[in-house]
Amino acid sequence: MLEYLVLYQSESGNTKKIAATIFSHLPGTSKDLIDITTDKTIPEARVYFIGFCVHCGSCSMVVSDFLGALSGKQIALFGTCGMGSSPEYYSSIEHSASVWIESDNEYLGAFICQGKMPQKVRRKYESIRTAENAPRIRLCLQNFDEALTHPDSLDLEHAKVFVQKILKKIQADDTL
Ligand SMILES: Cc1cc2nc3c(=O)[nH]c(=O)nc-3n(C[C@H](O)[C@H](O)[C@H](O)COP(=O)(O)O)c2cc1C
Repeated sequence: MLEYLVLYQSESGNTKKIAATIFSHLPGTSKDLIDITTDKTIPEARVYFIGFCVHCGSCSMVVSDFLGALSGKQIALFGTCGMGSSPEYYSSIEHSASVWIESDNEYLGAFICQGKMPQKVRRKYESIRTAENAPRIRLCLQNFDEALTHPDSLDLEHAKVFVQKILKKIQADDTL
């Protein structure tokens, strides 16, 4: 059994970047980095870092099904979403994914950051702009443009700090 497994779903590459960063900061060689949608065999591990791209405010069923099937594991989550700088929204994403984790696992926490969105999202915002919703659409367009550079080097640094925090937590648990 592996010590660490980083498992992710990423449609346009943002979450994959975070997954690769998390993987690179895990110690030792007993670890693997797996794309949940393409890699056929998923090895078993003691500690899981499970990542997802946010669609409709949560993870996909592929991810929630996998989470729900785990038992007796230590599990951390990570994800990227279009929305930036909204701790409340990030908490709601964390909650909507972590509810799938059964209570016989140890839940370690989540790292969520912003990720760029496809240009069609910007075109959609522009196409639905009216006199009434113009202020809201302006904010959406502003958020879209801010997302274009994410995940950036600071997001990757935060992902590294997240891994270090989780590793400390695991070590503390092991000494109990
Ligand atoms: C179909 C679709 C639905 C999305 N839904 C949300 C959403 O509910 N909330 C959000 O903040 N971002 C949403 N996004 C933006 C993505 O979460 C964001 O671009 C993410 O970084 C994509 O990750 P990936 O590159 O790993 O696929 C959506 C994007 C797509 C394409």
